[in-house]
Amino acid sequence: MDAYTVSAEFYDVLQARDERERADRLFASPARRARSGIIEVGAGSGLVTQVLARAATVPVHAIEPNPAMRTLLLSRLSTASNEQRSRVTVHPERVQELWPKDHAPPADLAVCSKVVATLDAGERRDTWAALARLVGPDGLLLIDPPPSAVPEGPRTQVLRQVAVGEDVYSGFISETPIHCATSGIGRIHLEYTYQVRRDGELLREEREEFDLWPVGSEQLRWELAAAGWAVCEPSPANRRSELLAARVIRDPQG
Ligand SMILES: C[S@@+](CC[C@H](N)C(=O)[O-])C[C@H]1O[C@@H](n2cnc3c(N)ncnc32)[C@H](O)[C@@H]1O
Repeated sequence: MDAYTVSAEFYDVLQARDERERADRLFASPARRARSGIIEVGAGSGLVTQVLARAATVPVHAIEPNPAMRTLLLSRLSTASNEQRSRVTVHPERVQELWPKDHAPPADLAVCSKVVATLDAGERRDTWAALARLVGPDGLLLIDPPPSAVPEGPRTQVLRQVAVGEDVYSGFISETPIHCATSGIGRIHLEYTYQVRRDGELLREEREEFDLWPVGSEQLRWELAAAGWAVCEPSPANRRSELLAARVIRDPQG
């Protein structure tokens, strides 16, 4: 089954309130400063896209290859103002498959929110290269860095409970560290469990699994540098360093 087929139903109801506040805090101000265009990698349900579209005055390119998530994204955009919707283009490709148009100016901001950890080493490398093609010289890249290492042991994260009519939606994430002795590359296996209760009785329980790929900060910097990105210290967008910021340091065509 395709990823997010189960999670799409629960994504916004369980996470939108917290995520919306975070998206505003992290991305509204850089979006306001964008002067030519914004690339958003892995737009998901469009929580960040909406913040970018509201804050910016330039075109926003929301890249979302997953059909279930893209459905949520387009549904959210359908209720945006005409002005905002006219500036957001939804791309169904993976970012690695997107090429700049000859006649369009390159973007000057790229945003990856909760995406980089879901990419393995090869996908990450191709993503940095693709973004270096799409973002012009001195353009800014903002990412939330993935976990730097595989955790010591399993752990569980409980999601916020939300009442919808007579029902209470809840969820938790079980994390299992996976160490690969031969490759030395670890990953974190996530199992999302979603529950719907009415009058305290469990009506439904659904599950979906994902993998996260930790990467140390030195390795991340090295990968970015290899694709023409220089990490800024400290991030101009966020001095509390929730985000890692990098700028294009050379013309990727050159
Ligand atoms: C965990 S969701 C995050 C969604 C959203 N950015 C947010 O902050 O809520 C990760 C998203 O990245 C998308 N994604 C994964 N690989 C991608 C790729 N190579 N190019 C573009 N998007 C990708 C997935 O389809 C998924 O919707």
